[in-house]
Amino acid sequence: MRKFLIAGNWKMNLLRDSSVALVHGLLDELKGDPNVEVAVCPPSVYLHDVGAALRGSQIALGAQNMYPAEEGAFTGEVSGKMLVDLGCKYVILGHSERRTLMGETDAQVNAKIYAALKCELLPIVCIGETLEQREAGNTSKVVRDQLRGSLAGLTADQMSKVVLAYEPVWAIGTGKTASPAQAEEVHADIRLLLVELFGEATASKTVIQYGGSVKADNAMELLGQPNIDGALVGGASLKAELFLPICLAAQKVKK
Ligand code: 13P
Repeated sequence: MRKFLIAGNWKMNLLRDSSVALVHGLLDELKGDPNVEVAVCPPSVYLHDVGAALRGSQIALGAQNMYPAEEGAFTGEVSGKMLVDLGCKYVILGHSERRTLMGETDAQVNAKIYAALKCELLPIVCIGETLEQREAGNTSKVVRDQLRGSLAGLTADQMSKVVLAYEPVWAIGTGKTASPAQAEEVHADIRLLLVELFGEATASKTVIQYGGSVKADNAMELLGQPNIDGALVGGASLKAELFLPICLAAQKVKK
């Protein structure tokens, strides 16, 4: 059975004190559960402080991006090794904001996945269609193309360390969530593609998160879908009282 992964993507929000306070708020209330892993992904400048606050706890640390090279003259960039050095277990790659705002391509995401796996970071690879693409009936094609490009050349063994996050762009930060049925349709399609690319055993083990306006009141129904294995949460991960009920919903869902 797949374990749920509930991850908070803090994006470019909070400052040092509010980051650490949020972690304490989570740790005070969150009870460990063998079926649900919880992670937080703060801005890279706060990974050290957040990591220190999390040390020895059941909450994992993740970063929001990395550069594919190991080291060198790449001003302003951060390597996977540096993230591991700060205690990161996960790294979000190819978020739609990076694809749109920074022009990140599937080929770049692909290079980052290899670099992350090389230093034993677990990539959370984001894919998802825009509203225009959905309305044109192209959701499956867009998501499949992103996956084929981002996951190109990976072996089944490498893929077993990758988490996917389906985040329809039109649902991010808009308050519009994909309905559980809409999300499940895409998740099931993603799993079918994974069977084609990596075989049944790997496909059935791959964690596929949903992201896009996940909140306490829609989490349970989304997470109850057969192919939804967690959530990548933006806005509602910035306050303990909003994020904790989502973690709790995952603990309550029985599949
Ligand atoms: P929201 O939960 O704010 O819609 O953001 C989703 C997201 O982009 C997580 O990576």
